[in-house]
Amino acid sequence: MTQNMSFPTWMGHIQQRTETALQSHLPTKAVSPARLHDAMAYATLGGGKRVRPLLCQAAGLVFQTSEEALDFPACAVEMIHAYSLVHDDLPCMDDDTLRRGKPTCHVEFDEATALLVGDALQSQAFQVLAEAPVDAVRKVEMIHLLAQASGSRGMAGGQAIDLAATGKNISLEELEFMHLHKTGALIRASVLLGAHCGGADAEALKNLSHFANRIGLLFQVVDDILDVEASTATLGKTAGKDAAQNKSTYVNLLGLAAAKEKAAELRSQAQAALLPLGAGGQRLRELTDYIVERSY
Ligand code: IPE
Ligand code: IPE
Ligand code: MG
Ligand code: MG
Ligand code: MG
Repeated sequence: MTQNMSFPTWMGHIQQRTETALQSHLPTKAVSPARLHDAMAYATLGGGKRVRPLLCQAAGLVFQTSEEALDFPACAVEMIHAYSLVHDDLPCMDDDTLRRGKPTCHVEFDEATALLVGDALQSQAFQVLAEAPVDAVRKVEMIHLLAQASGSRGMAGGQAIDLAATGKNISLEELEFMHLHKTGALIRASVLLGAHCGGADAEALKNLSHFANRIGLLFQVVDDILDVEASTATLGKTAGKDAAQNKSTYVNLLGLAAAKEKAAELRSQAQAALLPLGAGGQRLRELTDYIVERSY
């Protein structure tokens, strides 16, 4: 049973099964249009920490949900995430050339292909979710949740705010609102999709929702810190980009020390929200520590 695994072993196990599940849900390049399918696989497979699938599986575990059923929402949210990275890296957005240790999708292929990769991964995510072995009522809730988290009141909206805030002085409230949308929304959805898949009741959803909000924000605060402190080689993406592009981040607004204090505060708030779950919340607790202590 996976509950006896150490955290690193469990993480490797989920990362491996996510890779296999993603592969099974993506058309191969033998299927036309070959170049688009090749680029979708390039952007999705063989890299990334798989934090969102890990959160989805860990939340489902609270309700003893099978890993097989959880593979569906886990893949769906990772596909939305992979799409968001492909578009985030485009010249019209962050203009990045390195992602997950490889040339970005538009560099390896071309801009039009990268645009289409994002479009197609987004559709594929909802197709996968629609195919989940979950009863119809819960499945519609899950589709609704992911749609809201991805759209203009979620990730895409957050990205719009990020672009509008670049080079501007924004308040802490505005910064938090931006982070909660561009990154927090999908992280939150990862947890809640796992919980819904497992048939969580209203009380459990309330606790998990509070937890998910805190780690959503925490994840982006740590991303902002790593952009300053880690190297390009470790990150697998260009370090120091936020300052170079004059992005609004916790580090730029508050300084490194205060950003770290914020991360510590969010970690303890997130873990406090897990207390009512008891031993069932163990993997989520470990993932919270991982999110803070990760090196990339
Ligand atoms: C990077 O996400 C972009 C953000 C939302 C901060 P991750 O750090 O999860 O990237 P991968 O999936 O591991 O490459
Ligand atoms: C990205 O934030 C958020 C999304 C992709 C939605 P960043 O622009 O900070 O992510 P990285 O640092 O390029 O991975
Ligand atoms: Mg960005
Ligand atoms: Mg970026
Ligand atoms: Mg970043």
